[in-house]
Amino acid sequence: MRCTGLLLFPLLISHAVKALDNGLALTPIMGWLHWARFMCNVDCDADPDNCISERLFMQMADVMVKEGWRDAGYEYVCLDDCWPSRRRDASGGLQADPARFPGGIKRLADYVHSKGLKLGIYSDVGAETCAGYPGSLDHYEKDAQTFADWGVDLLKFDGCNMKWTRLAEGYRNMSRALNATGSRMVYSCEWPLYEWDFHKPNYTAVRETCNQWRNYADVYDSWSSVKSIAEWTALHQDAVAPWAGPGGWNDPDMISCKQWLNKMEHLTLVIGNYGLSHDQQESQMALWALMAAPLLMSNDLRSLCPRAKALLQNRRVIAINQDPLGRQGYRTATLGSFEVWERPLSNRVLAVAVRNKQEIGGPQKLPIVKVPGWRTCGSLCNVTQILPQYKELGVQRQRTDLAVAVNPSGVVLLTFHPILD
Ligand code: GLA
Repeated sequence: MRCTGLLLFPLLISHAVKALDNGLALTPIMGWLHWARFMCNVDCDADPDNCISERLFMQMADVMVKEGWRDAGYEYVCLDDCWPSRRRDASGGLQADPARFPGGIKRLADYVHSKGLKLGIYSDVGAETCAGYPGSLDHYEKDAQTFADWGVDLLKFDGCNMKWTRLAEGYRNMSRALNATGSRMVYSCEWPLYEWDFHKPNYTAVRETCNQWRNYADVYDSWSSVKSIAEWTALHQDAVAPWAGPGGWNDPDMISCKQWLNKMEHLTLVIGNYGLSHDQQESQMALWALMAAPLLMSNDLRSLCPRAKALLQNRRVIAINQDPLGRQGYRTATLGSFEVWERPLSNRVLAVAVRNKQEIGGPQKLPIVKVPGWRTCGSLCNVTQILPQYKELGVQRQRTDLAVAVNPSGVVLLTFHPILD
């Protein structure tokens, strides 16, 4: 058995003391972000239903209300790259592409707010965004004020087209500019991602500046992408996890495109993405919950299959993600083909994800006494299985022979709740 810092786990000191002081993101934010699913599709003539336009965001907002997403906690409807016009307006302000957003961003924000939701927008610390649209360099105050005037609630600030040595200054200046508007906007940064290639980022500064921050590559609609994000996070967990806490979170990127249509639906509807199996989707949800990750879906909510919807709206998984203690989980053991991740929750509950990394064969069994955190349980622990199905596994003694069976590339998500004698 190879253990990674497991005995230290309950004692790990959280660095999460000083966060960006805007009172936001006290738990990881939840919402929807267009990038991984709709990317830079700006061709509204050829593809009016899927292009980056006000219609797309209004439709998503409608579905979020109608189909229970808002009630499940998904609150932010977020624009990513490719929303602006190629040119700033006469006064130097950013403006939305007039053909795709005829009502402008202010009207879109009003619409989203009328649904009880919040609007997120995207810009870049450099001169251009990653897709080549105008960036905010030399316009931080002006752009922050524009976003505030429009009623925007979140800014995703990318880090393309900026010399890495100037990232810190740029991200800090934009943070100050946002605060100076007096409007409260979640500030989502990609700063560490663009610095890791050169040196270890200064997370004290990142946490003081941002409400969430990307550390690693963009998520793709593939299992290899999701696995690589989990692996990177585990390998760097001592550097990044202690910085997560109310007000500031590590962001492993979007919950990739969960467009799971079954074969019949695929044949009839011919839409969507198919990158992950259902077991893999459950693994991603469990990992994102244990990593205290922002839950930003990137999918087409207009055509989601019921099984996908049930997983994304699973209130027990969401409760783990949103636990008010705000401690990020860790990979605590690698046991043959198994990997165990654990996250301490409030009320002394421990959330545990047991992954089976073997991608061949059938379900594999792991006795729960092998989970490192089991020993923190005391003599009796109430065990609940959250995924794949909800199941009360009852009160277990220290030397229980309870085992969980985990599907290839799947997960079993549990909670251990100590019972005091
Ligand atoms: C970068 C970011 C992505 C997305 C694109 C948009 O790659 O990491 O999340 O915002 O830019 O161009």
